[in-house]
Amino acid sequence: MANPFRSRPANTTTQQQQQQHAAARPKSSLLRIVIFAILGLIVIVGLAVLIAWLIVKPKRLIYTVEDASIRNFNINSDHVNSSFSFAIRAYNPNKRMSVYYDAVEVSTAFDGQTVAFNTLSPFHQPKRNVTVLEAQLESRDVALSKSLSKDVRAQRAQGQVKVNLRIRARIRFKVGAIKLRHQTVKALCPAVPISFHSGKSFQITECDLDY
Ligand SMILES: *[C@@H]1O[C@H](CO)[C@@H](O)[C@H](O)[C@H]1NC(C)=O
Ligand SMILES: *[C@@H]1O[C@H](CO)[C@@H](O)[C@H](O)[C@H]1NC(C)=O
Repeated sequence: MANPFRSRPANTTTQQQQQQHAAARPKSSLLRIVIFAILGLIVIVGLAVLIAWLIVKPKRLIYTVEDASIRNFNINSDHVNSSFSFAIRAYNPNKRMSVYYDAVEVSTAFDGQTVAFNTLSPFHQPKRNVTVLEAQLESRDVALSKSLSKDVRAQRAQGQVKVNLRIRARIRFKVGAIKLRHQTVKALCPAVPISFHSGKSFQITECDLDY
C-alpha cells in the first residue's frame, strides 16, 4: 500500500522542477536555434569550398631551367665580372586558373653568395600555358670571399660553373572572374650547370617551389 504522507512531498518537488524547466525553455531553445544555424552555415560554407576545390582542382606551378649561358666571365683579385642568361620555363598546369605575375625577381648565387640580380616584366599567364622567361643577369666587380673565389676559379678551370638560381614572384591566381589573394612564390633551382663550351647540351634543372 502506498503511503499518502510520503508520496505528496515527492509530487510537489516534481511540479516545481517542471515549472522551472518551463521558465528556462524559451532561452535554451533560442540558443539551440543559434547553434544549429551556425553549425549549418559552417557545413554549407565547407561544402561550397569543397565543391569549388573539386571543380578547380588546383595544381602547383612547375619551373625548370631549360638553358643557361655565361659570357664576359672574369675573376680577378677575388672580384668577378660575368653576364648570365637563363631560359626559365614556367608551366601553369591548371585548367581553370590563370596566373597574374605582378613582380618577378631573379638572382644568381655562387654557393650561398648572390652575385647578380634582375627583375622581369609582369605578365599574365593563361590556363595550361608554358611561358619561357628569358633572364639576363650581370655581375659587375662583385667581391667574393677568398675561399669562394678559389672554388669558382677551380670550377672555371674544369670548363663549367654551377650556380643557384632563385626566383621570387608576387602572383595572384584568377578563377573565373575572381582574383585570389596575393602569394609569393619562392623558387630555388639548385646547382644549374653552365658550360663555357658553347654547343654542349644543357642539363635541365628542376626548381623547388615554395608558396
Ligand atoms: C669588371 O669590369 C669593370 C668595367 O666594367 C672593370 O673596371 C673591372 O676591373 C672588372 N673586374 C674584373 C674582376 O674583371
Ligand atoms: C602562353 O601564353 C603567352 C602569353 O599569353 C603566349 O604568348 C604563348 O603563346 C602561350 N604559350 C602556349 C604554349 O600556349
